[in-house]
Amino acid sequence: MSQNPLHIVGIGGTLRDQSTSRFALEHALRAARAAGASVELLDLRLYDLPMYEPDKELADYTPNVRQFIGAIANADGLLISTAAYHGTLAGVTKNALDYLEFLSDTEYLHNKPVGLIATAGGDQADVNSIAAMVHVVHSLRGTVLPLSVPIHNAGKVFDGVIPTGRTADRLAKLGALVVETAARFRPAPALA
Ligand SMILES: Cc1cc2nc3c(=O)[nH]c(=O)nc-3n(C[C@H](O)[C@H](O)[C@H](O)COP(=O)(O)O)c2cc1C
Repeated sequence: MSQNPLHIVGIGGTLRDQSTSRFALEHALRAARAAGASVELLDLRLYDLPMYEPDKELADYTPNVRQFIGAIANADGLLISTAAYHGTLAGVTKNALDYLEFLSDTEYLHNKPVGLIATAGGDQADVNSIAAMVHVVHSLRGTVLPLSVPIHNAGKVFDGVIPTGRTADRLAKLGALVVETAARFRPAPALA
């Protein structure tokens, strides 16, 4: 029996037009598509999410917020890509992840593999940002993949929108790995 393709959702980018964290995410998503998945980019610049307010119900938010949560709920695997701001993940990313509180009734990211990407201008904050996101994903019951892609000196490793060298290779591996892992997590189809 054939199953639908695995669906991989990417969350990320900053609000910058030329966001390197979004370019990196797009590269990993292309690799996920090449590995056979359907892919979807939740570009945080386009979603324009307001600050998460715990007193509000999901119904109180605009339709783009509901669409954002629904897309994540439907994903078989996720890729999250942030910029590093002031030594850790950018607020725009953290605010987006705070909305996953709306998935508490379905155990948040349970059974979803999650690949992590971070870009930084310097040499350290990308690694810090990955570490911070590991804590977030664990608290959301997600499974962090055993490969993540911290990108130092991000301004120097992109040729336009395309990552180069080892960064490109690692992003491609991450995109393939999230698909391979999501396939292992998917329940076997019921016998006819
Ligand atoms: C407000 C702000 C704070 C930043 N803080 C750091 C930092 O602490 N360490 C660092 O290496 N880079 C820092 N950067 C540089 C960004 O991490 C870097 O430019 C990154 O590639 C931006 O991602 P983007 O291209 O997706 O916007 C900062 C940039 C901004 C705008």
